[in-house]
Amino acid sequence: MAVSLPATASPTAAAVAAPAAGHVVVDGVSIRYRADGHDVHAVDNVSFEIRPGEKFILLGPSGCGKSTLLNAVAGFLRPTAGRILLDGTTIQRPGPDRVVVFQEFNQLLPWRTVLGNVAYPLRVARNLGRQESDARARRFLDMVGLDRSVGAYPHTLSGGMKQRVAIARALALDPAVLLMDEPFASLDALTRTRMQQELNGIWAQTRKTIFFVTHSIQEAVLLGSRILVLTPGPGRLRAIVENAADGAPLDSPEFAAMESQVRGLLALPLDGRGES
Ligand SMILES: Nc1ncnc2c1ncn2[C@@H]1O[C@H](COP(=O)(O)OP(=O)(O)OP(=O)(O)O)[C@@H](O)[C@H]1O
Ligand SMILES: [Mg+2]
Repeated sequence: MAVSLPATASPTAAAVAAPAAGHVVVDGVSIRYRADGHDVHAVDNVSFEIRPGEKFILLGPSGCGKSTLLNAVAGFLRPTAGRILLDGTTIQRPGPDRVVVFQEFNQLLPWRTVLGNVAYPLRVARNLGRQESDARARRFLDMVGLDRSVGAYPHTLSGGMKQRVAIARALALDPAVLLMDEPFASLDALTRTRMQQELNGIWAQTRKTIFFVTHSIQEAVLLGSRILVLTPGPGRLRAIVENAADGAPLDSPEFAAMESQVRGLLALPLDGRGES
């Protein structure tokens, strides 16, 4: 797919670009749910920092609280204890500075075309006129290789194409942080690998802060600048590792070594000390 930097020379594009740096601080966060009269302790006293412009991966087994943490950064739910800051301000609610790409393919509006799905939020959330929003939407659809599908409706697209629309929509809004909750998990293996490579290409062009949730070790090593490993639920911080294989080919010894290191961290007993 063609990956090109969207033009930002026009005054409108400059106005759309958020000045925020995309620096996230998660400070002593615990999250409990109340369900059927029971307390579910989903996340326990987790602290970490996402540096501006990094690809930060949250990795852990099913049910360890990954989506819960991502949803808290998105502002969909409030921590029971602790706080989350974006560029120095406590996150209280959802906002256009944080856009989420979910796993589900049905996150598009079925009654709008591909172009409409990307352009409409720009009109609503960024107050752009129709012409400006359409032009901006086209630039980002071009970036994810969908320039020839602008007039198509979501039901005519493959799963991978739908996820590209969702990514284009998120990027066009120019959030400070792009939040991705297993966005490629429902794709077939081949498409998934291509999308992962494409996301790396898009990041190289945009240097957007990305907070990416996955339970796949390979995906974490393929995409992350740093990888946070959570323990099984309630999710506690097990380790944050620099990804020494960031940018390395899948079949390289560095990649295998990193995968093995991360696998080891995931396999540690619950009281294991893996922080580095
Ligand atoms: N709305 C909710 N109400 C009650 N409990 C919830 C709710 N959402 C999640 N939980 C519980 O919180 C824990 C963490 O769930 P979460 O969805 O964050 O895990 P996850 O790491 O994203 O898992 P997966 O990899 O399967 O998506 C689980 O025990 C789950 O059952
Ligand atoms: Mg989840």
